Amino acid sequence: MEKTIIGLASDHAGFPLKEQVKEWLAAKGYDYKDFGTYSTESCDYPTFAHALATAIEQGEMEKGIAICGTGNGINMTLNHHAGIRSALCWQPEIASLARQHNDANVLVMPGRFIEEATAKECVTTFLDTEFEGGRHIRRIESIPVK
Ligand code: RB5
Repeated sequence: MEKTIIGLASDHAGFPLKEQVKEWLAAKGYDYKDFGTYSTESCDYPTFAHALATAIEQGEMEKGIAICGTGNGINMTLNHHAGIRSALCWQPEIASLARQHNDANVLVMPGRFIEEATAKECVTTFLDTEFEGGRHIRRIESIPVK
């Protein structure tokens, strides 16, 4: 069976955690595609957010994980894409609810403000939790601005 691919994106502030995430994904049996950045050299998060969002919108993968310093810039950029529901998470409970209630397809974490063990739990929870459906379908369908 083919491995599920997870798309990854970060800026320089998220780069170290993105490298950790790769190890966790591999250990959990996932494949990943890394849309950059590829070092701690200063760069602009929209470049990498747009690349990940476009790949998801084009069906290259279903889910992604994105990281910048606070998580805000990369999250704002991702959520400008119609096919993205990106959730800024700093606790596993929030990652769980982002899947259960929001059917989030991108997990965003604040690389400069999250402990490694917490980030790992957020990743695991995000990947293992299903969307609840029901009343939440109506809500997520009402998100797009017509
Ligand atoms: C980079 O210094 C920082 O501004 C960026 O990683 C992010 O926190 C922006 O929202």
